[in-house]
Amino acid sequence: MPGQPMRASAAQVMLAVEQGQSLSQCLPPALKRLPENERPALQALCFGTCRWFFRLDGELQSRLKKPLKPVDRVVHHLMLVALFQLRHSQQATYAVLNETVEACRTMGRPHLTGLVNGVLRAAEREGEPAPQSDSVSFSHPPWMVEKLRHNWPDDWHNILDTNNTQAPMTLRVNARRFNRDRYLELLAETGIGARATAFAPHGIQLAAPVPVDQLPYFADGAVSVQDEAAQLCTTLLELAPGQRVLDACAAPGGKTCAILEACEGLAEVVAIDESADRLPRIEENLERLDLDASVQQADAANTDQWWDGRFFDRILLDVPCSATGVIRRHPDIKLLRRESDIVALANIQLGLLTALWQTLKPGGRLVYGTCSVFPQENHRIIRRFLNQPDEMVLLEPDVLWGHDTGAGRQLLPVPHSHDGFFYAVLEKPVQ
Ligand SMILES: C[S@@+](CC[C@H](N)C(=O)[O-])C[C@H]1O[C@@H](n2cnc3c(N)ncnc32)[C@H](O)[C@@H]1O
Repeated sequence: MPGQPMRASAAQVMLAVEQGQSLSQCLPPALKRLPENERPALQALCFGTCRWFFRLDGELQSRLKKPLKPVDRVVHHLMLVALFQLRHSQQATYAVLNETVEACRTMGRPHLTGLVNGVLRAAEREGEPAPQSDSVSFSHPPWMVEKLRHNWPDDWHNILDTNNTQAPMTLRVNARRFNRDRYLELLAETGIGARATAFAPHGIQLAAPVPVDQLPYFADGAVSVQDEAAQLCTTLLELAPGQRVLDACAAPGGKTCAILEACEGLAEVVAIDESADRLPRIEENLERLDLDASVQQADAANTDQWWDGRFFDRILLDVPCSATGVIRRHPDIKLLRRESDIVALANIQLGLLTALWQTLKPGGRLVYGTCSVFPQENHRIIRRFLNQPDEMVLLEPDVLWGHDTGAGRQLLPVPHSHDGFFYAVLEKPVQ
């Protein structure tokens, strides 16, 4: 049966995610082992099962009299993948059942085929049970539901619902090559449905995702894939020719390139990232777009290691964060993130902000950004920083997007529109 190897792979990938690997780590090797025409289906199975994990797992646990032995945990995931298909796909039920039972056998668990068959037949016959908690109902870990409810009493259910939808594909038109209207025309001529984004001046949102090689002049650097919220950093930086700009947490370079496209004649753009693995992605993006930056591997917080003492006019600090504003693009975050991560991340974020402030020229501007929806990583970091003795001014950008938090603007994820993001703009007064 053709679906068995894919099913077994999906279960193995889900087990790896449960054990702490991200989909971007464990999915590519699994995809490589399958024939090319089966790869999109494996990707859809893994993303879908992660997205609905807490809901599917709630149902599966209620159907199992006792948990499987740890050594058979992969069979638990095999059943979750099958449940995902029963509840969220058009796949024929008999095929899901037969292939899953067969996969259980070929994965060396013949003693569990009866259980798998019984559980899935009951699931098919009885339909989905009523969810017993908000965690199961909204398919998010309990701590995340509680934190969002506490932080966003009027919006938490919208955030959770949006996280369970498919994110749109959004482009940033390279302003050095095309204006947006011209590129929209090109897309229309190619038969690709699209519209201009509401807030980002160079953004185009596609009606449906397409492979990048189908986008006109993609290889020549006409456009990049970047969410609208991520694009907004350049408008906040107020770039001008002659400025020296630092992109402190730069990989894979989406915002570095957006900065370079937004303003010709910058004196220099320094792009730093501490991850040696991610650094080549910055170089690749610069190369495709024919842009130049000084790319360095360093811990940005350790300024002794990399800073030459010359001040920056502009700093973009797009800190590492919980990524809870982009869960619909990375549904594995639901399984990977722990509540305790948030405090640890907040300390790293404040450390980076404090260290990099020293490298900003008096009169210069720093834009702090995250793709998180938790105030602990966002306006509370800015508040904590403003309590420190250094002089600084919090600017209130004149924009039409996001919620004013009193210390920065918070975008929440919106269905068929932008991701969740946070920005604060700080200026260092001239003494
Ligand atoms: C949110 S991502 C940046 C995304 C990037 N700005 C873009 O738009 O393409 C955060 C990045 O920070 C990097 N990072 C984490 N801690 C760092 C540190 N102490 N110094 C420099 N980079 C760091 C991570 O490797 C990761 O690539």
